Amino acid sequence: MKKKLVSLLTVSAMTLSLLAGCGASNTATETATEVAETATEVAETATDAAETATEVAETVAESAGDSDLADKKVGVCIYQFADNFMTLFRTELENYLVSQGFSKDNITIVDGANDQATQTNQIQNFITQGVDVLIINPVNSSSAATITDLVVGAEIPLVYINREPDADEEARWESNGWNVTYVGCDARQSGTMQGEILVDLGQEAVDLNGDGKIQYIMIEGDPENVDAQYRTEFSVKALEDAGWAVDCLDDQVGNWDQATAQQLVANSLSAHPETEVVFCNNDAMALGALQSIEAAGRKVGEDIYLVGVDALTEALEDVLAGTMTGTVFNDHIAQSHGAADAAINFITGAGNDYYIGCDYVKVTADNAQSVLDSLK
Ligand code: BGC
Ligand code: CA
Repeated sequence: MKKKLVSLLTVSAMTLSLLAGCGASNTATETATEVAETATEVAETATDAAETATEVAETVAESAGDSDLADKKVGVCIYQFADNFMTLFRTELENYLVSQGFSKDNITIVDGANDQATQTNQIQNFITQGVDVLIINPVNSSSAATITDLVVGAEIPLVYINREPDADEEARWESNGWNVTYVGCDARQSGTMQGEILVDLGQEAVDLNGDGKIQYIMIEGDPENVDAQYRTEFSVKALEDAGWAVDCLDDQVGNWDQATAQQLVANSLSAHPETEVVFCNNDAMALGALQSIEAAGRKVGEDIYLVGVDALTEALEDVLAGTMTGTVFNDHIAQSHGAADAAINFITGAGNDYYIGCDYVKVTADNAQSVLDSLK
């Protein structure tokens, strides 16, 4: 293109010189010289333009390579595969990562089997493999500082999910400007909503024996996890904030697990038949509690109340059937998408805030169907 232009202009200049040589005026010679000069200038401009075009093309090619997620490797550590909620979470996470352009072959999700040493090993393996980003659901939130040091030391960006590291740890990411963030909901909100579901029913309905106090039993998740601590504290606090007196009959650790909770609630109900409310830190344990409530010949909504958290499909069906008083939607869709988006932002260099939150939703028979429909 550039060459053609130069030769065309040179030919025109030569033609003009020839004309000048054939006895034409000086003007013709001057014009010929001017045309020749213009030809040189045009040629130079063309060269500059060509160079700029090459540079632009290189920049475009480079950035296209950077955002080509299909080549990026993602390591995902889940604290335990045998957890109903985390199963929903990781399934949605993988599907969403693929929908955003990652290759399924480059996404590796591993089971920490509820053992921190196992998980730490898995993290080390991911580092050796040179993954581009890590998404970690820690077995022990208290191991977060060690995990962060390992991952940041390897210069790999890190997205924590579901089990929130403590405030000191989060402050460290910010003060060091590290590529580390947490994506999750504030468990205090879920606890408060559990309590509010009962408060909304009115004290007269919930205080079944009319002694002016709410007799309850609490089934906790893994107490190392802030979700368990906050739900335990804030569910009861919501009753107290409404001016209700409370009477804790039993408080047991069910470790988020259905079968464990079933056993614990069976024992509790036989020791404390006056129980009016069963609080469970999650739905898996509420489903276990329900089995024991029914085995004890009790009826939810008539002679006992039962609330959970997560909005598992089975729990939503129980809420609709009246066999569970309510639950709280723990939005695994928003959280998994938020975690994947944060991972992408680290990969592309856009960066992230140090805390990425999301809201819980109170669920009773009034809205359980619409939550169920939204999950289909
Ligand atoms: C969920 C539980 C789950 C736990 C795992 C919580 O947010 O409500 O169902 O077992 O996370 O860490
Ligand atoms: Ca009572």
